[in-house]
Amino acid sequence: MTPILQVENLQKHFPAQGGRTVHAVNGVSFSINPGETLGVVGESGSGKSTIGRAVIRLLKPTAGRIRFQGRDITTLPESACRPLRAEMQMVFQDPWSALNPRIRIGELIAEPLLLHTKLSRSERRDRAEQLARRVRLTTELLTRYPSELSGGQLQRVCIARAIATQPKLIVLDEPTSSLDLSVRAGILELLAELKAETGVAMMFISHDLGTVKLISDRIMVLYLGGVVEYAPAAKVFADPAHPYSQALISAHLPADPEAVLRRHVLEGEIPSPIALPPGCHFASRCPVAVPDCRATAPELRAVHGDTAHQAACLRIAEGANRIPEVADG
Ligand SMILES: Nc1ncnc2c1ncn2[C@@H]1O[C@H](COP(=O)(O)OP(=O)(O)OP(=O)(O)O)[C@@H](O)[C@H]1O
Ligand code: SF4
Ligand SMILES: [Mg+2]
Repeated sequence: MTPILQVENLQKHFPAQGGRTVHAVNGVSFSINPGETLGVVGESGSGKSTIGRAVIRLLKPTAGRIRFQGRDITTLPESACRPLRAEMQMVFQDPWSALNPRIRIGELIAEPLLLHTKLSRSERRDRAEQLARRVRLTTELLTRYPSELSGGQLQRVCIARAIATQPKLIVLDEPTSSLDLSVRAGILELLAELKAETGVAMMFISHDLGTVKLISDRIMVLYLGGVVEYAPAAKVFADPAHPYSQALISAHLPADPEAVLRRHVLEGEIPSPIALPPGCHFASRCPVAVPDCRATAPELRAVHGDTAHQAACLRIAEGANRIPEVADG
């Protein structure tokens, strides 16, 4: 199967004060198959949004290669990227700032159709009504302005816009993080339905493992702009190989009053992306680090021969990659 998206050795650096460089993304490779949802997790600053934006060419990569439907789009000029956006869409965290407050909902939903199709005005209006119903918005909302809708409704508008042109890939950057807990489940349910119905591939970015677990087929765990684990979602949760993934998953366990569940709380400083240390970037916080970890950079490798499960840790081969669990409370 040809992947919808293939990313090879993606790097993105930003200039920082004093002529220094922020190493936001450092050699990230992954692919997304048709109909697949890739969950991208990692702490704040790990490069999730930068990768999402680079993939749909809202940002120009510093190095690496991005192929969309087999076509190299890494260095396409902006004018050539515009038509591509009908096929690759993005949904952002904050629906309030993603939508022009002076434009009515119906026109907002129809806008991508105006930009990317030859539909007539009345055809666009009909299609906007269908799209609104598809994302479970009542059509009476089409004549309202964004300020008259709730956050959950606005995110549904953003999703309607994203699916309007029947894209092959949607990048969703923390699409539920700004919403009340009570409306998050409804949005995730809608995304799962759209995926099943249309076969659209998704890249779902979130720092919340619980959300990612619900929606992802595969998961990519990032640390300081690098991939530390890349595997089917069930594998990452059942048998996380990288000490950082283990810590993330244990922190995600619900608090247990009986202190039966065990967590690991990460300590130590996160290195600056301006001055990345040699060796494993996680060594300053890794509970099972050994001196060699500060000298040798681990590569992403198959875990115990399973090529579908990859992790970047020097201690997996010797079976010393398990972090100690700490009793709650
Ligand atoms: N335009 C920019 N200029 C300079 N540095 C940037 C820029 N955009 C991102 N960065 C830096 O790149 C790194 C990765 O940022 P990014 O926003 O991709 O992280 P993230 O994983 O999405 O974080 P969050 O969970 O907070 O959204 C951070 O160190 C960030 O400060
Ligand atoms: S390589 Fe060393 S420091 Fe890095 S995750 Fe593995 S054990 Fe920890
Ligand atoms: Mg982000």
